[in-house]
Amino acid sequence: MKILVVGSGGREHALAWKLKQSSRADRIFCAPGNAGTAEVGENVMIPANDLPALAHFAKENQIGLTVIGPDDPLAAGIADLFEAEGLRVFGPARSAARLESSKIFAKELMRKNKIPTARGAAFSKREAAFAFVEESRFPLVIKADGLALGKGVIIAQDAAEARVAIDSMLTKRRFGDAGTRLLIEECLAGSECSLHALVDGKNYRMLATARDHKRAFDGDTGPNTGGMGAFSPANNFGTELRAQFDREVMRPLLNGLNEDGVIFRGLLFPGLMVTGDGPRVLEFNCRFGDPETQVILPRLKSDLLELLEATIDGTLDRRVIEWDERAAVTVVLASGGYPDKYDIGKPIHGLELSASAKDVHVFHAGTRKKNGTVITAGGRVLAVTALGESVATARARAYEAVSQIDFEGCHYRRDIALGAVAAKVVGH
Ligand code: AMP
Ligand code: GLY
Repeated sequence: MKILVVGSGGREHALAWKLKQSSRADRIFCAPGNAGTAEVGENVMIPANDLPALAHFAKENQIGLTVIGPDDPLAAGIADLFEAEGLRVFGPARSAARLESSKIFAKELMRKNKIPTARGAAFSKREAAFAFVEESRFPLVIKADGLALGKGVIIAQDAAEARVAIDSMLTKRRFGDAGTRLLIEECLAGSECSLHALVDGKNYRMLATARDHKRAFDGDTGPNTGGMGAFSPANNFGTELRAQFDREVMRPLLNGLNEDGVIFRGLLFPGLMVTGDGPRVLEFNCRFGDPETQVILPRLKSDLLELLEATIDGTLDRRVIEWDERAAVTVVLASGGYPDKYDIGKPIHGLELSASAKDVHVFHAGTRKKNGTVITAGGRVLAVTALGESVATARARAYEAVSQIDFEGCHYRRDIALGAVAAKVVGH
């Protein structure tokens, strides 16, 4: 089968790499891809948001399955377009992808189905939002309703900060149309956990758990990023929480969607805050996480292609997913200045040496090839993953591999998975 992966990040490199291992995978295409995906298959110069061109390419080239990486094309209805054209696609329809593309829609659904989440209220008028702030306790979380590249969440410490955040979204339109409505909610305390579930409309299967490091610098300081590293399994999600998550989140969510006539087929990634009172949903994502995918897929023993097809066909209940019991740690190498302004075009040294180490995978994100040399082409450049018998071993291996790589301005966090090194690997 010919497979098309849409996107160009580390997540898409990991997806293409894992799909390629399927005995039924023939040729892999990636649109637009990066220097890493070009090693796994063939890059196609179509941007991830050019929906008609992607559908045209899939038709012309008899693509048997298209896998969508990022959220934007899903929110724009790529799955609906492909299905209308008779093309097989992995990713939810636009109506289901609203769980991610509208935080207010997701909040309303959670409220209706009693899914534990932070208390909050939606606003489109500045005065009403300001009045709510006057009566609130702090810190307070202010979220743009729509997709804002992971930057649409502001934690305000007092009323003045909250008003500035509200003004920046509603009046100054900092996030454009994504911020014409906003959600104001209570700030939860606890530890975060990234859960991934394949959902086939009726059934779901959990993938391995993971934890992300969102802040740019060590000790969880600096601005939020797309994610500076991750590890799997999560060290804060045991069997009891898993049962609670099934009972209080997944079951009511799937029932609620069905009652509203919304069919979710694809990857659902709830971001959770594990609090003293149990799990609380922070957000729903409708696609694989980045960099979570770079630690989850190297631990997956089963055939990913078969799992994605079972998700589309509604036959996940017949599937058992097998995992490598070892832990995985990934460290993201970013361009100098990221997540703010950064330069690109820097030659990257040491890639081959680094990737040749035992149980190490170097996933590319913002890279491209120029005259035979791999150069930087984005903010997050590489995700270096290693497996190990313990988190500590995986972590040591990942950092050893990272130390072989160099490019001008390269920065990365030194404390990825540090808080979990003492954890024994239990479950997945
Ligand atoms: P979201 O896009 O909704 O997941 O928000 C991005 C990040 O903001 C989350 O990963 C959390 O770190 C933080 N966050 C979001 N909502 C809350 C909340 N209600 N309380 C505390 N932190 C939050
Ligand atoms: N790493 C978080 C995300 O993919 O949204």
